[in-house]
Amino acid sequence: MKFFIDTADVEAIAELNDLGMVDGVTTNPSIILKSGKNILDVTREICSIVSGPVSAEVVATTADDMIAEGRKLAQIASNITVKVPLTWDGLKACKVLSSEGKMVNVTLCFSANQALIAAKAGATFISPFVGRLDDINMDGMELIADIRQIYDNYGYDTQILAASVRTVNHVTQCALVGADVITAPPAVIKALASHPLTDKGLEQFMKDWAKTGQNIL
Ligand code: G3P
Repeated sequence: MKFFIDTADVEAIAELNDLGMVDGVTTNPSIILKSGKNILDVTREICSIVSGPVSAEVVATTADDMIAEGRKLAQIASNITVKVPLTWDGLKACKVLSSEGKMVNVTLCFSANQALIAAKAGATFISPFVGRLDDINMDGMELIADIRQIYDNYGYDTQILAASVRTVNHVTQCALVGADVITAPPAVIKALASHPLTDKGLEQFMKDWAKTGQNIL
């Protein structure tokens, strides 16, 4: 499973990238707001660090304007993925931009039918929002599993990019049901390494090692 980082925090991306944890990056207008930077500048900066797909989202609401914005964003670097919302206009933009050979991430997906129609429009990635479905007492993971089955039934090669991933359990569940990619904030990725028994075990080893009076170096 690929790890995309859901942030425009360049330092955090660079740190995780050095560890080989970054297969790509996703951003959205809220993330750009949080960065306090210009979308073109910060996206260029991210693309100078990460060689995998970097999603940059259009903000227009009509297909023609989305296509124009998508073409401009795609000029930033060859690994730009144009992110469009799952609206009818977004699907039209997806079809045009993907036909031009650009990677397209169709975002704000909340149903299996939306995922199906995005695949038919040529999406490279579909982004179902797991956490936001959980927020309203629906089962985000059930949606990921349904999309997996539908795409496998018909051989669609659109990649399932589980988004709004907020917990380490979401990551495990996405891996179990076969999401192609998860995108999560840096804190969630870092938390994957944590276990209380690891901390407890290490503490005991350190205490016992101190009693030996030995040094390795
Ligand atoms: O990738 C989409 C993500 O940024 C949304 O996450 O936590 O705002 O639902 P959240």
